[in-house]
Amino acid sequence: MSFKRRNFIDLADFKRHELRAFLDAGHDLKRKQKCGEPHEVLKGKSMAMIFMKSSTRTRVSFEVGMTQLGGHALYLQPGGTQLGRGETIGDTAIVLSRYCDVIMARVFGHGEVVELAKHATVPVINGLSDLLHPCQIMADMMTIEEHKGTLEGLKVAYVGDSNNVSNSIMQGCTIMGMDVTIGSPKGYTPTDEIMERAENLSRTYKTHLEVVTDPAEAVKAADVIYTDTFFSMGQEREKEKEEALMPFQVNRALVNNAKEDVIVMHCLPAHRDEELTSDIMDDPKHSVVFDQAENRLHAQKGILALIV
Ligand code: CP
Ligand code: NVA
Repeated sequence: MSFKRRNFIDLADFKRHELRAFLDAGHDLKRKQKCGEPHEVLKGKSMAMIFMKSSTRTRVSFEVGMTQLGGHALYLQPGGTQLGRGETIGDTAIVLSRYCDVIMARVFGHGEVVELAKHATVPVINGLSDLLHPCQIMADMMTIEEHKGTLEGLKVAYVGDSNNVSNSIMQGCTIMGMDVTIGSPKGYTPTDEIMERAENLSRTYKTHLEVVTDPAEAVKAADVIYTDTFFSMGQEREKEKEEALMPFQVNRALVNNAKEDVIVMHCLPAHRDEELTSDIMDDPKHSVVFDQAENRLHAQKGILALIV
């Protein structure tokens, strides 16, 4: 199986055995890093990282990941490049491809990362767009495998605002054979377009996919509860949305509706005591949020090792 020059923009571009190969590479590189085995498979390679939005995890995990693989990463902020002065995404993609072996971009509109990939002659990785967050969900699936030993047949319940993270969960987890329930209030459920794409995947992979508007029903018999911020980057805080989402807060009462050994996930950054209470976030019996953050490093090294 060859992934050379494949973009990593949308999990729905991949089949199960392909996502499996990325996950296996991530687990393998994690093991190698933990036991000090050399794995500098990208010696002499460079990655340009374009950040149109803030980041802690994505920036640091990609940069450190490239270093550990023997390569180098360049951090580019729009204000510090000619993108901020109107150079087109297409021209930028062509130029960066002449210097670098891979481009990672965190953008607002999903079309921006698609446009980048259209013009680049090296692979492009989506480090989050308003529509999708594929690298996050690869780290999350690694984390679920570590804690549950498998993915297939498990139920993941995402509760809260339907956003880039829940969209990628519907794709990635469905492809890997998990049942997905989205619990969101009316007005904040997935769009018809993203739903249709996820339903196609669910038919192909014979999994259960549903959207409900009752949080307790969403998490019933769940193996995994996942939540994310009520307001994603670029969104204004609105009282009405906050009030609609508060009943979807992941707290002790909600967790008690799930399986006894449910794990609780959040891509971070968390807004403690808003979408997730501190007692659950800090509860070692359920919370795996910092394992997810660590696995960004390993999962992305797996992706880089295969596509660069
Ligand atoms: N989860 C995530 O992408 O975090 P950052 O915004 O810190 O990169
Ligand atoms: N949904 C969040 C994820 C942050 C990692 C956002 O887009 O801001």
